[in-house]
Amino acid sequence: MEVGIDKIAFYTPKYYLDLVELAQARDVDPNKFTIGIGQDQQAVIPNYEDAVTMGVNAANQILTDDNRQSIGQLYFGTESGVDNSKSAAIFAAKLLNLSPYIRAMEVKEACYGGTFALMMARDYVKLHPDQKVLVLAADVARYGLDTPGEVTQGGGGIAMLVSAQPKLAVIEDESVFASRDVADFWRPVDRMAALVDGHLSTEIYKEMFADLWQRYQKQTQAEIGNFAAFAFHLPYTKMGKKALDEIIDQADEQQAERLLEALKASQAYARRVGNLYTGSLYLSLLSLLQQDAALQAGDRLALFSYGSGAEAELFTLKLQKDFKQIIAQQKVEEALDARQRLSVAEYEADFQKQLYDSSQNVESDYPKDSQDAVFTGWRDGQRI
Ligand code: HMG
Repeated sequence: MEVGIDKIAFYTPKYYLDLVELAQARDVDPNKFTIGIGQDQQAVIPNYEDAVTMGVNAANQILTDDNRQSIGQLYFGTESGVDNSKSAAIFAAKLLNLSPYIRAMEVKEACYGGTFALMMARDYVKLHPDQKVLVLAADVARYGLDTPGEVTQGGGGIAMLVSAQPKLAVIEDESVFASRDVADFWRPVDRMAALVDGHLSTEIYKEMFADLWQRYQKQTQAEIGNFAAFAFHLPYTKMGKKALDEIIDQADEQQAERLLEALKASQAYARRVGNLYTGSLYLSLLSLLQQDAALQAGDRLALFSYGSGAEAELFTLKLQKDFKQIIAQQKVEEALDARQRLSVAEYEADFQKQLYDSSQNVESDYPKDSQDAVFTGWRDGQRI
């Protein structure tokens, strides 16, 4: 039985920072950010948004009332969870008005958590084909002001509905994965921003991709020409190019040109949003599906998921007959164009306004007329 992604949606807050302005403020050549790193803009996350609100606001774009009743499980991949004990999925299930008779669980392993959630969803639906599973992957990617990681910040949420006979793409059975204990990026529980050895993380990412591609080829006899595109976890868009470069010499000239075009299509949204951590690979997928007009039903895509620490997986999708109609329902470019640009000073002030202290009864700056899920503030230690 075929199981996979039936629908996908993306949400990011309505503010962004222009990275040429950031480069000027940090006394860096703007070409380093726009060419060397491959980022033009980055999402700025106000103090009334968090992983829960962004996951919920993505899901509300695709869930029908019927879906809300037929979802049997909710898996939430995040590394910026809002509570050290309670699952982000429990907050989300209530806000989404799902049935109480579900499992609502949070998954954590850096940026890989969303992929684990997706794989668990596929396995569950294989056993329970009459049910659907909602997968959320949402994060705030924050390194701190004037750090080397600053240019790779961002944030947003992805929602995917996993079902039997999916309309968008089948998740194929064969995949390869690996775990390695590496100190490339981590966040001790007393910190709100990650610590990172950026150059090491880039190297480990590339090594794990090359290793898993080789393993996948051995296991399945696949060749690079079997895939219409590769989509990558994109902490910054240049990372996708670095990864593809690891294997591109296996392609003939025509295939290589095609894969580079597809890569560019997959990078378009990440260039404007930045890293989403768990959702980042799926924003690349959405970008690829919307921006690459050459893709056809039946095409196979290879996806590479990487989470620092580290965990990685290479898996494949097969595009379904109606994928173009399904994907056309998402208005991502319009949403990105409608965002409000913040000055560097406003972006820096946003850091000071974050509400990390649960001992204070405080309200966030949430818009009082918002139709979206918002974090309104702390009351008696509870996150409202
Ligand atoms: P850096 O030291 O500021 O930058 O760190 P750099 O000196 O390495 O330069 C970056 C690139 O810009 C280089 O190109 C330069 O040549 C180029 P490359 O050699 O890489 O191809 N450059 C220029 N290009 C044009 N004009 C110029 C110019 N100057 C320099 N004038 C780094 C960059 C990405 C390491 C840093 O921003 C960082 O630490 N970011 C956070 C970590 C990260 O994103 N790691 C990625 C892999 S790990 C991962 O994906 C997991 C993660 O998502 C977390 C999770 O799993 O939860 C991060």
